[in-house]
Amino acid sequence: MTFSTPLAASVQGDGLAGSAEAAPLIELNDISHSFGTRPDFAARLAISLKLGKPAARVQAVDGVSLVVRRGEVLGLVGESGCGKSTLGRIVAGIVSPTSGSVSWRGKDLKTLSSSARREAKLRVQMIFQNPYASLNPRRKAADIVGEAPRVHGLVEGGLGVFVDEQFRRAGLDPALKHRFPHQFSGGQRQRIGIARALAVQPEFLVCDEAVAALDVSIQAQILNLFMDLRERLNLTYLFISHDLGVVEHISDRVAIMYLGRIVEEAPAEEIFARANHPYTQALLAEVPRLETTKRSFAAIKGELPSPLSPPNGCHFHPRCPHTMPRCRIEVPRMKLVAAGHKSACHLNDAAS
Ligand SMILES: Nc1ncnc2c1ncn2[C@@H]1O[C@H](COP(=O)(O)OP(=O)(O)OP(=O)(O)O)[C@@H](O)[C@H]1O
Ligand code: SF4
Ligand SMILES: [Mg+2]
Repeated sequence: MTFSTPLAASVQGDGLAGSAEAAPLIELNDISHSFGTRPDFAARLAISLKLGKPAARVQAVDGVSLVVRRGEVLGLVGESGCGKSTLGRIVAGIVSPTSGSVSWRGKDLKTLSSSARREAKLRVQMIFQNPYASLNPRRKAADIVGEAPRVHGLVEGGLGVFVDEQFRRAGLDPALKHRFPHQFSGGQRQRIGIARALAVQPEFLVCDEAVAALDVSIQAQILNLFMDLRERLNLTYLFISHDLGVVEHISDRVAIMYLGRIVEEAPAEEIFARANHPYTQALLAEVPRLETTKRSFAAIKGELPSPLSPPNGCHFHPRCPHTMPRCRIEVPRMKLVAAGHKSACHLNDAAS
């Protein structure tokens, strides 16, 4: 896979701290989100007779604090079910967190007027994994792309000309705009999703496994489009992916998530060269190298614990090769281990 567009001079870690470019566009402060689970009939009966415990909750996101600076690409990585999509939806304003605060351009969303909140929400758009599922099959591509900007009064001049422009920006031929989603290929459908997002003039794109469902050659084209749009429109990205190879190529910084928590955060080069957290080290051992077809997987030892009952202390302790007694009791806090590099592991205390 090749990526033709070089990354723009990027915001690396804390390197630009203090400059205008380093200002956070989005800031998550101690965000948590849990989902209720639906008990089966027997459990519901037991609860109503006060013989059973209330239904368990899944702690999908657990005390996450994260900053995404203007113009950067933050990669978000972790195993299935660790809470990446839930966190992405919180950033995009689709899910309201159970607790914690989200700030947009330094202002807590909760303190904004409803119109300012709507405006901020429009500036953050989400691109989903399955473009087919996210496009209404009964609507023509032109209507899908044109609807939100029309409703929000963002169209100056004719809607047709506006939609054509969005199609061109996403690399689609406007002559195809009267087709329905099923008449496009997978890559073209993802471009419709991108055109729809761009049509409301976003500053921030949350891409949730946005290329995972595409063939490798199409993946490269869509990734190049994202990077091209980043330069042309000065976009900021939260890029969620299972594929560490893709994340390594396009991210300025990477955050690693495990069972609802961010366990490590660093500039991309730094994390791939000097991973600090034992979980990140185990994940990186799984990266298939892009330049070879050889996929040398070293599966992480042990099962991923259930998010319904995560282990105490460090969630990673049942699978960690370095577990110490305190790891079973005490939650490790994020600590700076190098410039712009934070990690949540008790081993960093032992070393200091
Ligand atoms: N709407 C929901 N109702 C109940 N539980 C949910 C809901 N959405 C997510 N969850 C649970 O929250 C946890 C985190 O899910 P999430 O989809 O955010 O993970 P993910 O990291 O995106 O996984 P994947 O890599 O498979 O997409 C999982 O245990 C999931 O089952
Ligand atoms: S805190 Fe302990 S269990 Fe967790 S990653 Fe570090 S050494 Fe392993
Ligand atoms: Mg997901």
